[in-house]
Amino acid sequence: MANTLNQAVSVPGHVAIVMDGNGRWARQRFLPRLAGHRQGVETLREVVRWSLARGIRVLTVFAFSSENWKRPADEVSGLMGLMARALAREVPELSRAGVRLHFPGDRSVLSANVAEGLCQAEAATAGNDRLVLNVCFNYGGRWDIAQAAQALAQRGEPITEASLGGALALAHVPDPDLVIRTGGEVRLSNFLLWQAAYSELVFSDRLWPAFDEAEFDRALQVYAQRQRRFGLTPEQVQPASSSH
Ligand code: IPE
Ligand code: IPE
Ligand code: MG
Repeated sequence: MANTLNQAVSVPGHVAIVMDGNGRWARQRFLPRLAGHRQGVETLREVVRWSLARGIRVLTVFAFSSENWKRPADEVSGLMGLMARALAREVPELSRAGVRLHFPGDRSVLSANVAEGLCQAEAATAGNDRLVLNVCFNYGGRWDIAQAAQALAQRGEPITEASLGGALALAHVPDPDLVIRTGGEVRLSNFLLWQAAYSELVFSDRLWPAFDEAEFDRALQVYAQRQRRFGLTPEQVQPASSSH
C-alpha cells in the first residue's frame, strides 16, 4: 500500500533516454547496423506508449549526436533516411495520441528534406498536450550551451543562469528528473549537459532494441527509491517526524 502510494507520487515528470546499443544488437544477429537502428525505432514507439500510460509528461530521447557524423557515410545516410521515413510513418499516430513533437538540435546542416520534415512534424503536433516528445537530432550539450550564449550575445542580453537556461533548445520543458542510458555504457556522451545537472541517472545493460517494459519499469522503480536532495541534507528533505 505504502509502496503503491510512493510509486504514484514519484513518477518522473520528465524522462530522458540515451538510446544506445543498436549497432551491437544488430551485430549479435549478424545483421547490418542499420537493422539495429530500425529496430530501435520500434522500441521508441513502445516507450512512448508506456510513457503515456504512466502519466509521464515529457520524454526526451537522444537519436543522433553532434559526434555521430563521424560514423561511416553509409550509416549516417541510413540514419537520415530512417528519420525521414519514421516521420512520415509515425507522426499521424503520435498526433492522434496527443503527442507534441520537438526536435532539439542543429538543423542548419541537415538536408532540406529532413529539416523540412522536422518543421512539419512540429507544426502538425503543436496543439497536443498529453506528452511532449523531444527527439534530439544532431544535438550536443556543448552545441546547445554555445548556441544559447550566442543568441543572448546577439540580443545584447546579460548571461545569467536563468537567461542561458531560457535560450537552450529545451527551454520549453523542465529539466529531466530521470536520465536512462541503455547499452551498458556509463557516460553522458554530450547529452543534456546543462539540463541533467540534478537528474537521477539510471544505467541499463540492455541494448536499446531489446529494452522492454519491465526494464523501463525497473528504471522508474530505481528512480522512485532515490532521495533527491538538491544540495540539502537528508534531514532537511525528509524530517524525522514524517519518515515513517
Ligand atoms: C545508438 O546506438 C544509436 C545512435 C548513436 C544513432 P549505437 O549505434 O551507438 O549502437 P552501439 O553503441 O554501436 O551498439
Ligand atoms: C550516444 O551514443 C548518442 C546517441 C544515442 C544518439 P553513442 O554510441 O554515439 O555514444 P558513444 O560514442 O559510445 O559515447
Ligand atoms: Mg553507441
